[in-house]
Amino acid sequence: MPGAIVTGWGIAVPDKVVTNEDLSLTLDTSDAWITERTGIKERHIGGTTSGLAIEAGEHALKRAGLTGSDIDLLVLATTTPDAIVPGTSATVQAGLGVAGGAFDVNAACSGFVYALVVAHGMALVGAQKILVVGSETLSRITDWDDRSVAILVGDGAGAVVLEATEGPGELLGWHLGADGELRDLLKCDHGGHLYMNGKEIFRHAVRAVIDSSLIALERAGLTPDDVDLFVPHQANARIITAAAQRLGIAEDRYVVTIDRYGNTSSASIPLALVDALETDRIKPGSIVLLSGFGGGMTWASAVLRWGG
Ligand code: UT7
Repeated sequence: MPGAIVTGWGIAVPDKVVTNEDLSLTLDTSDAWITERTGIKERHIGGTTSGLAIEAGEHALKRAGLTGSDIDLLVLATTTPDAIVPGTSATVQAGLGVAGGAFDVNAACSGFVYALVVAHGMALVGAQKILVVGSETLSRITDWDDRSVAILVGDGAGAVVLEATEGPGELLGWHLGADGELRDLLKCDHGGHLYMNGKEIFRHAVRAVIDSSLIALERAGLTPDDVDLFVPHQANARIITAAAQRLGIAEDRYVVTIDRYGNTSSASIPLALVDALETDRIKPGSIVLLSGFGGGMTWASAVLRWGG
């Protein structure tokens, strides 16, 4: 069946780096606690969601040998839009000169995988060249006096160009899930700050990643043993390790970038994916499993055969 394949990728992170030591100057916390409980060492802070998305998008377009005028659809995953109206995708569309339509997807930290699956579906109904971006500035909705959140978050963006192909596409299987009964576990009201019930999210997250990954793999006719690289949402190194262990995926088959970026919500999976591509951990034919979870709660997994 024809589908779509990734032909370009790029990231953007703000210049400013905030270390655990920096945070322990103003918060009752320590590098030792943050490292042991989360795996985070530092994070980038600053910029705007549209600005980071445009920069990541430019890199992805350049890598694909395209410009914005070649793109007939822009899908932007974000949970920290620049404004309520217009969609941040409109600003990014103008910044990149995207020729076609543009819309935002908010599925919190699962947003990039939601957006990627939607983009694959759009390729099946005629879209030719699609830019998929995950971009976040969680720092803007963070109470920097609240250690339960401030130590976790980071800002950044990652983008991929998806091009329709006559041959087989990359997407072999997917699974999207949501349970709004759990919506109070992670939330930010208009004008407020991010709140999360870390312990409860942790518990649901491990289960959600495992179950969702297994369903997506089953739909692809594969098992965890077939996965060459697991690219999970980067919320906590302990969540990643617990999920990978229970899936039977050894350390050399999964990506961890949380030490450098913290939790960047819908930017975390593209940041990790691009890191894996830049370090040659993904090759043509590699089976790549993306899986995320987040506020909503939502969860999402996609199984790709790299290059189709
Ligand atoms: O992207 C999706 C959204 N979010 C998540 O996925 C978050 C998932 N949850 C987590 O990552 C973890 O639950 C946290 C990192 C948020 C917290 O780790 P934890 O192991 O669940 O710690 P805890 O909340 O059980 O706290 C353990 C202790 C407590 O002290 P006592 O009661 O044992 O004396 C806390 O008061 O650590 C204390 N504590 C801290 N100490 C230093 C809590 N936060 C901090 C801190 N620094 N920042």
